[in-house]
Amino acid sequence: MLRTNTCGELRITDTGKEVVLCGWLQRFRDIGTIGFIDLRDRYGITQLSFDQNRNKEIFEAAKKLGREYVLQIKGIVAERTSKNEKLLTGDIEVIVNEINVLNQSKTPPFTIENETDGGDELRMKYRYIDLRREIVRKNLELRHTISKFARQYLDSQNFIEIETPVLIKSTPEGARDFIVPSRLNQGEWYALPQSPQTFKQLLMVSGFDRYYQIVKCFRDEDLRADRQPEFTQIDCEMSFVEQEDILNTFEGMIKNIFKNVKNLSFEKFIRITYEDAMKNYGSDKPDMRFEMKFVYLDNVARGFGFNIFDDAETIIAINVKGASNYTRKQLDELTEYVKRPQIGAKGLIYCRVNEDGTLKSSVDKFYNEEALKLWVKECNSEKNDLILVLSGDLNITRKQMNELRLEVAKMLGLRNPEKFVPLWVTDFPLLEFDEDSNRWHAMHHPFTSPKIEDIELLKTNPGKIRANAYDLVINGVEIGGGSIRIHDRFLQQQMFSLLGFTEEQAQYQFGFLMNAFEYGAPPHGGIAFGFDRLCSLFGGSETIRDFIAFPKNNNGRDVMIDAPSEISTEQKKELGIK
Ligand code: AMO
Repeated sequence: MLRTNTCGELRITDTGKEVVLCGWLQRFRDIGTIGFIDLRDRYGITQLSFDQNRNKEIFEAAKKLGREYVLQIKGIVAERTSKNEKLLTGDIEVIVNEINVLNQSKTPPFTIENETDGGDELRMKYRYIDLRREIVRKNLELRHTISKFARQYLDSQNFIEIETPVLIKSTPEGARDFIVPSRLNQGEWYALPQSPQTFKQLLMVSGFDRYYQIVKCFRDEDLRADRQPEFTQIDCEMSFVEQEDILNTFEGMIKNIFKNVKNLSFEKFIRITYEDAMKNYGSDKPDMRFEMKFVYLDNVARGFGFNIFDDAETIIAINVKGASNYTRKQLDELTEYVKRPQIGAKGLIYCRVNEDGTLKSSVDKFYNEEALKLWVKECNSEKNDLILVLSGDLNITRKQMNELRLEVAKMLGLRNPEKFVPLWVTDFPLLEFDEDSNRWHAMHHPFTSPKIEDIELLKTNPGKIRANAYDLVINGVEIGGGSIRIHDRFLQQQMFSLLGFTEEQAQYQFGFLMNAFEYGAPPHGGIAFGFDRLCSLFGGSETIRDFIAFPKNNNGRDVMIDAPSEISTEQKKELGIK
């Protein structure tokens, strides 16, 4: 080893020891005849000290060093005169008697500080330098720790990690595939897996029983803060189980991670059906850190001559606790918020429940105190509360109210990143109708099993069929999703036909899976967790990029290696591409 200790290790008890440290020069400070260097490595920062009067040569050599030089220093640990409580090594410094420059460095393009002066693009271009910053490094350390405890738990439950191929045939998970040309089979293409879905099912047919894999998945879709074109799943599958077994097993995994990483314990996770989630929160991933359940005013707010409500399919309210003192300006801001094109509401109605119990609404012209009291009763409002109301088409109004509910919660500081409320959403519909393509799509994926009691609806009312499908939602983020699978060839074939596949198409694309079902496929089911999302949730950020060592930007580019990029004519010729 080139060093005896790391830069995060030395304490007052080490005083007097001769040590060798290696690291990067974070900062040099020169106060007259004394100089200090902060030497940084992965483990921390240690102060080095130089005294002109004691060792002029070393003092002069230190002054010539630049930021981010890679150094090896030898010296003696000494107690500091002015201690730094913020640093774990803040009680000591190393009095240097030898410096070896292991490598020089150009001046870095931005400061290696938590509050850096580097913009996003610049930091991505020099990501290897960005990763030297403590906050970015800590994110990757957190990622490692979470994967360690996920593995620990899965191993303790007899799961075995098996790798599945990356050059495969398209698996539909609802996004576009990334495609790879084949040189040996010109004119033919591999697809990169959107998930290992079909392979994990085949492993169940093989009898592996409990599989997992922390695995890269690839989806060519539009990017957002919580979406990357390549991302990582904790992908799992089990045989001889029902939905309940899967929920319990993976609730155990998430609890194990929370306990070990955050020292948090949970009661049984709350559960809600998809239908109730949509009815009560207008979203299939409601944030349950706060209540503000939807209240339908359909029966009490119509017939007062207010056309907007009278003509609406539905009228939905939320009761905002303690917000009756919202200023006109705040209410105008909320109105502007729901009127933004992304949300698209026409306006926002409110009713204040004042401190003295009187009621004041934005539609007093139509609703007298008596009429407003009906709203208050429906909403269970108390003094100082504020009722916010939207109306219109059912599905659209639910969506709009979901956005408003989240915005109000943000304004009230109810979306505390240190509070975690996990939630299982169950009983998703099996299918959703897509107007554009005029056909049914699988809501989760085509391998998901309908609920046995709903199978008879396959021919009569497919939209009403519920699936044995579930999502894990934490703080309004979809962290994972899975289902019990079809393991019967006939039912799988029926499913493909419902989704608009001809028999030939289904055979061509998924013949391997349906054939496998004819060789003793056990009942099975599973789930996959978005590992990057889990990490960002634990790290208190909404951006998964911060938790990926080398992420892509919003245009799907890696600006550091400059990919994607052109390929040579030669390469194209070899691949048979024009
Ligand atoms: P699903 O498509 O729901 O299910 O994906 C599982 C989880 O992966 C995460 N996720 C993403 N994370 C980052 N960037 C993306 N582009 C992205 N897309 C998805 C989400 C999501 O909940 N094979 C099934 C699982 C199964 O049925 O077992 C599947 O992939 O957190």
